[in-house]
Amino acid sequence: MTTMKTWNLKSRPVGAPTLENWELVEEAVPTAGEGEYVAQTLWLSIDPYMRGRMNDAKSYAAPVAIGGRMEGGTVGRVIESKTPDIPVGSHVFHTGGWSTHWKATPKGTQIVDPDLFPLSAHVGMLGMPGMTAWAGLHNIGKPVEGETLVVAAATGPVGTMVGQIAKAKGLRAVGIAGGPEKCAYAVEELGFDACLDRNDPDLTTKLKDAVPNGIDIYWENVGGPVFQAVWPLMNPFSRMPVCGVISFYNATQAQTGLDWGPRILREVLTKRILMKGFIVWDYQEQLPQFVNEIVPMIQSGRIKVREDVSQGIESAPQSLIDVLNGENFGKKVIQVA
Ligand SMILES: NC(=O)c1ccc[n+]([C@@H]2O[C@H](COP(=O)([O-])OP(=O)(O)OC[C@H]3O[C@@H](n4cnc5c(N)ncnc54)[C@H](OP(=O)(O)O)[C@@H]3O)[C@@H](O)[C@H]2O)c1
Repeated sequence: MTTMKTWNLKSRPVGAPTLENWELVEEAVPTAGEGEYVAQTLWLSIDPYMRGRMNDAKSYAAPVAIGGRMEGGTVGRVIESKTPDIPVGSHVFHTGGWSTHWKATPKGTQIVDPDLFPLSAHVGMLGMPGMTAWAGLHNIGKPVEGETLVVAAATGPVGTMVGQIAKAKGLRAVGIAGGPEKCAYAVEELGFDACLDRNDPDLTTKLKDAVPNGIDIYWENVGGPVFQAVWPLMNPFSRMPVCGVISFYNATQAQTGLDWGPRILREVLTKRILMKGFIVWDYQEQLPQFVNEIVPMIQSGRIKVREDVSQGIESAPQSLIDVLNGENFGKKVIQVA
């Protein structure tokens, strides 16, 4: 009997997740029913949204059930098929989850060409994070040559793409990242004009110096102290695609202290700032436009993405804990087979 390994959610975390929140189960690889296929997972994507799926809270997507398989984007090879649309041997993208194998129908499955790009790119720059960056900029950020953009988590897949697209469109791009090594990479390899360490006690002053003309686009990935440093520097008619607030994902209670709500609303009004939250699939119909614009930029080397690779399905829980702690350096992926 061929077996597969799957990470199921065992308990819901209170605050930061721990390894005890998951359980690794081993069972027989399923067989395909009529209209289904079975794939072996080659790559599993680890993304911050997975923390949200561990909460039993109302959100834009349903939580993972206790005892249910952790959700996740996967690229795999088809090992059995009873559907002509997905032949054996083809490479496919699907949300197969934290498992060495998955079974699915063609719905939500995309055949990918292993000769065109590395397979892991389909969960990175060519996949969900890349589309997020492109769609948020295209629809909300609306970059204009000569403007200034700021993005935190600048060396992760979303921040990397946002900064490089902004540079390609002639903006000044200022990154914020966790530590000097990530910042050096953002400037020297990715072409950001400047990058500041989010842990620097002088972040507010240094950010002011780094954006002499103020901020026209703040790409919100993190919230918290970074947002507080950014907010006073927002220009009239600036835009803020609200993509993520990772500094709150492990929070157990609402932030207290500064009365930011009324102040923000006042300045949204007086400066006519556009703040808009979005989820990548709000713009799903624009996928072909994203591919047309981004593929040539990747092929020409204009857009680069660094990967942070862990080996084996066993490493999935620790990998998510690391992403939530900023210990990843680049797009976190797991080479499952
Ligand atoms: N709206 C959507 O559809 C959508 C889609 C994809 C992603 N997102 C969001 O986009 C953001 C970036 O995602 P990603 O996949 O590119 O993640 P990522 O950059 O690979 O990983 C998250 C990064 O966030 C930073 N971070 C962690 N804790 C932080 C804290 N307390 N304060 C400030 N920064 C912290 C760390 O970077 P540093 O150590 O460098 O600071 C960490 O590496 C996340 O908020 C994610 O939820 C939203």
